[in-house]
Formats: sequence, structure tokens, C-alpha cells
Amino acid sequence: METRTFYPETGTELVRRLIEGREEKYYVLTLGCQQNEADSERIRGMAEAMGYSAAEAPEDASLIVVNTCAIRRHAELKALSIVGRFKAIKTARAETVIGICGCMAAEPHMVEHIKKNFHFVSFTLEPNRLFRLPSLVATALLEGRRSFVLGEDDGTVAEGLPIRRTSDHRAYVSIMYGCNNFCSYCIVPYVRGRERSRESAAILEECRALVESGVKEITLLGQNVNSYRADMSFASLISAIAALEGDFIIRFMTSHPKDVSDELIEAMRKYRGKIAPCFHLPLQAGSDRILKDMNRTYTTAHYLSIVEKLRAAVPDIVLTTDIIVAFPGETEEDFLGTLSLIERVEYDMIFSFIFSPREGTRAARMEDLITEEEKNDRMARLLALQREIALKKNLSYLDRTERILVDSEAREGEGNYIGRTAGGKLVRFTDRESRIGQFINVKITKATPFDLFGEAIQ
Ligand code: 5AD
Ligand code: SF4
Repeated sequence: METRTFYPETGTELVRRLIEGREEKYYVLTLGCQQNEADSERIRGMAEAMGYSAAEAPEDASLIVVNTCAIRRHAELKALSIVGRFKAIKTARAETVIGICGCMAAEPHMVEHIKKNFHFVSFTLEPNRLFRLPSLVATALLEGRRSFVLGEDDGTVAEGLPIRRTSDHRAYVSIMYGCNNFCSYCIVPYVRGRERSRESAAILEECRALVESGVKEITLLGQNVNSYRADMSFASLISAIAALEGDFIIRFMTSHPKDVSDELIEAMRKYRGKIAPCFHLPLQAGSDRILKDMNRTYTTAHYLSIVEKLRAAVPDIVLTTDIIVAFPGETEEDFLGTLSLIERVEYDMIFSFIFSPREGTRAARMEDLITEEEKNDRMARLLALQREIALKKNLSYLDRTERILVDSEAREGEGNYIGRTAGGKLVRFTDRESRIGQFINVKITKATPFDLFGEAIQ
């Protein structure tokens, strides 16, 4: 695996000199998943290295970057509508540079659409070439030329990009990029390219420095972290991070059931307290026939065997999942299979989505005969079932004392602070003073399907 350092990238110094003494500002808008949030932190880092400072609102910025998502049609429509709104800013200030990054910027038909219909957009940049941002800004500023970076991905892992993190106590650490699985519904392998892993030494050093700087929660990121493969396995990597000194917890996402190893489960048992007792394990569907059509390459029986092992190793583990409702060809019987699996596993939380055909994927060419009414009905039934299960799960926390990491002040609703349990459950609680960024004990006093409520123990 080739790993090269691409930073500082040529454009950075150029832009720095161009905007020197002008107090120029940047604004980054992030849509989509944690991977995009992590990329946005790199975009902010690069913008600051170029000499821009953070703007409160897009109107105040002369560099605007929209980091887009392409996972479902809805996400794309949202991105296009947001970008459309920025046209007025460009009209008011012609020298504003507006760029589009993220997964939508890696879809040829979308880039074509932007090229033709969004003349105020200065550049699009596919996610695997993020380090080229400064040179695109330089091109826009110096030549007023538009750039469209697409299809350049050569499997390079860029190290050394500056990062402006949004939190002092929680941090994302990307460990691998891309996906090789080609689940038949999914656009990710097309927009994020093939799997490539960062070297463990670079990851370990990043984690060590984060912990030293006071970070209390590290989330390891990758489209499929369990297929991390550099000079060691994911289980070895997470164990090495867990062995670092300091009071912090490690989370990771996302995992493909086919790659969850016994070694990883053993590491979770061994490093309890360090590796958070939670697991996001996307099921997608509870019917073996649909799983096959989805190209998921596991059966429901295999999936259940992982759940059993996880629960044996970490008894109070918090399990969450992703479900796609109304995949092409899903019958009522298939759907009942999904409900029945949900009942068996009893997830703490489910992220459920109605199937959205993505251009270029295999499932987009499958015949979709399910009516809108039926799709919505299935979704409503799934949500109703999960609501019951989540409430039951959360009620079991009543009167328990949980060690939580305080995240922020609560802006609305009950309690004056918000934090998360080690298992990742959101807790709204009251405290006499701000202890943001610290682990504290909270007594749980109330539970709803989506939240826990409590009081800080002084
Ligand atoms: N339609 C609906 N949901 C999708 N997901 C991925 N692709 C699609 C699609 N085309 C869901 C999967 C995945 C999550 C991130 O998004 O459940 O796990
Ligand atoms: Fe998409 Fe499947 Fe890869 Fe997840 S594992 S990103 S669902 S192709």
C-alpha cells in the first residue's frame, strides 16, 4: 500500500500570498455521514493553512465549500438546493469562490449538471483528491477558471493534511477509505473508490497526540473498518489504541457483518472500559433472499451468530443497525422476516431508509413494483416496532448510574447538559456546573424511546 504525504500542497502558499492582509473568511457546510464531517475538518484545516479564518455565516465568507452526500436521492436534492441558495452570494460578490466536495462531486452526471447549470460554482472536487483543494482555490482566484476534479483517484492515501477539529474532547480518526463490497444498492464504492488503509503507525501517533491533548472519545472511521488491512488487522489496531495510556474511550464505525472477527470481539471484551460497549452492525434486511440480491454475502443466521458472540463477550452491549425498507422485490414475507429479526435482536436504535435507486448501481436496474403506499406502510410498521423495543431497552436504565462524557449545553428540552453513555446513548441531565469534556456519573431518572434523562452525581 502506497502512502504519500501530499501536504503542504502547492496551492496553499499561493493562496496565502494572494489573500494576505485581507481578512478573508471561509464557510464549510457539511451534509451526510461522519466521514464527511471528518473530511470537513480537513477542509477547514486547509482553509486556515491558506490564510482564511472561520466565518459565522456564508454571507461573510469569500470561500464557501459544500461537502455533499450521495447516499440517497433526498441527500442530493438537499445539496443542490443549498448550493442554489449560494448563487445570491456570488452575485453580490463576484470574487467569492464556491466549491462542491463530497460524494456528489464524484458522480459524473452530477458534475455535468453542476457544470451546466451552476455557473457560479468555481470547482467540484471528488473526495479522494481532497488534498487538491488549495490548488483549485488558487486556480479560481488567479485565473477565474472553473475546475472539475473527477476520475483522478489513483488509490493514494494522503497523510499530513491539516485538521481543524470541531470539538476539544471528541475526535474522528479516519483509518481507511473507500469500499470494495459493492452492495447492489450502494453508491459508495463508485464515489469513494477502492478500499485503502492508512498505516497503523500514523493512526497510532494521531490517537496518542489526541489523548495527550485531552481528547476523551476517539471514533475510528471507515466505510468498513473491519476490513482495515495495512500492517495489522483491525482487531490488532484497536487493541494497540486501547493500550495507549489515558482515560478515553474508542468507538468505531461502520462494520460489515461478513468481516467481524472473533479477534475483534475478544478485543472488546479484553479492553472493556476503553473500547466502548456498542456496535453498529448494519443488517439491511432480515430475509436471506433479499440479502443475496443486495450482495451482502452473509445470511441472517450468520448475522445472529455475531450478535450472540457480542452479547456473550460484552453483556450490556448497545446494538444499532441500518435497515433498508422496500428493496426491489421485497415481499410482505421478506419484510416480516426483517421485523422478526429486529424483534429477536432488540436493537437500541435503528436507522431505517426507504430504498432509493442510485444511478449506476445494480439495484437501480432491478424492477421496483412496490407502491409508495406500501413502502410508507412498511416503514411506519418498522418504526412502531422499534419504538416499543427502544423504550423497553431505555427503561432498563432507570435508577442506574451511568458514566457519561459531557458533550454540550442543552439548548432546548429538559436538562441543562447533554452527554453520552459509554454505549453511546444520549442523556439529557441537570448539573450545577459545566463539566463539558469530562466523564461524570449521572443517575438515570427518566427514559423515552429516544433519550435518557438524569441528574449528575456531584
Ligand atoms: N437507498 C436507501 N438506503 C441506502 N443506504 C445505502 N444506500 C442506500 C440506498 N440506495 C443506507 C444503508 C447504509 C446506510 C448508510 O444508508 O442502510 O447502511
Ligand atoms: Fe455501501 Fe455496502 Fe460499502 Fe456500506 S459496505 S459503504 S453499504 S457498499
